[in-house]
Amino acid sequence: MAKTIPSPPGLPIIGNLLDVSTGGETPLTPLERLADEYGPIYKITVSGTERVVISNHEMFKEVCDETRFFKAAGPGLRALSDLGMFLAQSEKSPDWGQAHRVLVPAFGPLSIRNMFDEMHDIASQLVLKWARRGPSYKIPVTDDFTRLTLDTIALCTMNFRFNSFYQDEMHPFVDAMLAVLSEGGARQKIPKVVQRFMRNRNELVKRNFKLMKDTSEEIVRHRRQNPTDKKDLLDAMINNKDPKTGESMRDELIAANLTTFLVAGHETTSGLLSFAFHNMLKNPSTYFKAVEEVDKVVGKGRITVDHLKNLNYISAILRETLRLHPTAPLISRGPRDENTESPPTVGGFALQKEWPILCLIAKIQRDPKVYGDDANEFRPERMLDEEFDKLPPGAWKPFGTGIRACIGRPLAWQEALLVVAMLLQNFDFRLDDESYKLKIKANLTIKPDDLYVRATLRQGVS
Ligand code: HEM
Repeated sequence: MAKTIPSPPGLPIIGNLLDVSTGGETPLTPLERLADEYGPIYKITVSGTERVVISNHEMFKEVCDETRFFKAAGPGLRALSDLGMFLAQSEKSPDWGQAHRVLVPAFGPLSIRNMFDEMHDIASQLVLKWARRGPSYKIPVTDDFTRLTLDTIALCTMNFRFNSFYQDEMHPFVDAMLAVLSEGGARQKIPKVVQRFMRNRNELVKRNFKLMKDTSEEIVRHRRQNPTDKKDLLDAMINNKDPKTGESMRDELIAANLTTFLVAGHETTSGLLSFAFHNMLKNPSTYFKAVEEVDKVVGKGRITVDHLKNLNYISAILRETLRLHPTAPLISRGPRDENTESPPTVGGFALQKEWPILCLIAKIQRDPKVYGDDANEFRPERMLDEEFDKLPPGAWKPFGTGIRACIGRPLAWQEALLVVAMLLQNFDFRLDDESYKLKIKANLTIKPDDLYVRATLRQGVS
C-alpha cells in the first residue's frame, strides 16, 4: 500500500505559509530546511494550495519519467501565467506545440554555430569595458554579465541591439521585465483573493507587461517591414511553417516567444557566468587550470567557434557550477492524466493528480548517494566527460527534463564557454574582497549577491 507523505503541521487558513516565508537566505532555503527536517519528500499547504517537495536523486529520477509525469506549472510559473506570460503554457496547448515544432530545428547546431560572431561581438564589448575601466574598477559581476547575456540573446535571436554597454540606464524593457519577474516571485505567497485587491500593484504589472509586449511586437513589425537575409529565430518564426499543420505562427505568438527568450535566457546564463567566476576565484587551483587550458587551446589570437569543443576543463567548470548552483533552481512536475497508477506514487508515497511536485534541483544535485561525501564541494574534475558520461540518469538536470527541457541550452553553453575563455584570455582576475562569503539573490532564478571582482589586462593578447 502507498505510504502517506509526511507534512509539517500548519496553521488554520494560512497553512504552512510561515514555514516557507521565514528564516531563509533565499525563497528556497526554508524549503531546503524543511527537507532536512522531514526528509526527501514532504507536503505543504500554502495559500490553500497543496504542494509536494522532493529533494533526492531517486525520487527525482522517477518524476523525470515522461510516461508517468509531465511539467506542471509550479508556483512561480503560475504566477507569471496569471500575469499573462506565455512562458507557462501547457504542453497540450496548440500554441506551445506550434512554437515548439517551429523552434526546435531553429535551435539546431548549425544555427547556434552561426550565432558565434554575434556572441563574440557582445563579449568583446564587455572586454573593452573592463579593459578601459582598468584594475581600479570594482566590477559588479552579475550586473555586467546581465548586460552581456541580455544583449546576446536579443542580437542572436531577433537582431535587436539593447546596447546595454553604451548606456548607464538599462533599456525600459529590462526594468519592466525585472519588475514583472520580481512581482511573479512575490505573488507566490499571496492568496489570489488578496491579489485582486492590490490595485496599484496590479496596474503597475499591467503597464510593465504592456511595455514588454509592445517592445516585442514592435520588433516583429519592424522585421516584417524590413525583411533581411538573417537566418535567426525571428526569421524562422516568421517564415517557417509548422511541419505538422503547415500553418504559420501568428504575430502575437511570435512576439510572446521573443519575450520568453529574453526572460528565460538572460538571467539564467548571467547567473551561471557569475557563479562560475565566484567558484573559480574561491578555488584558485581550478582558476589556474582554466587559464592554462585557454592559453593552450586558444593562445593569444582571436578565439573561434572551433576552439570551444576543446575547452574540456572549462566545460567541466560550467557543469559543476550548475550542479551546485542551478540558476533555475526549481522545476515542477505532476502525474500525467495518462498515469494509470491508482493512486499515482513517487518513492512509494501516494500523490494526488492536482498536487504539483516541486523538485529542489540544488539539493537533488548534491545527493551524497550520487556525488559522495564531498558533494557540496566545487570539484570540476568530476564533471570531465569520462566521469560526466557515467552519471546515473537524473543526477544532473539544471536544464530541466523531457519535452519541456530548456530549448536554449546549446545557445547558453556556446555563449558561456566563449565568454569564460575570452575573459580568462584577456584578464587576470581576483576577488575584490578575498573574504567574500557567497550570498544568493533569488526571484525565479538565483545569482550571487554583492559579488565584485577586479580585472587586470594580461599582456600580449591581440
Ligand atoms: C526552459 C534552465 C538558458 C529558453 C528551461 C528550464 C530550465 C532552464 C530548468 C525548464 C523549466 C521547467 O521545467 O519549469 C536554463 C539555464 C540556462 C538557460 C540553467 C542557462 C544557463 C536559456 C536560454 C534560452 C532559454 C539562453 C534562450 C532562448 C528557455 C525556454 C524554456 C526554457 C524557451 C521553456 C521551454 C518549454 O517550456 O518548452 N530553461 N535555461 N533558456 N528555457 Fe532555459
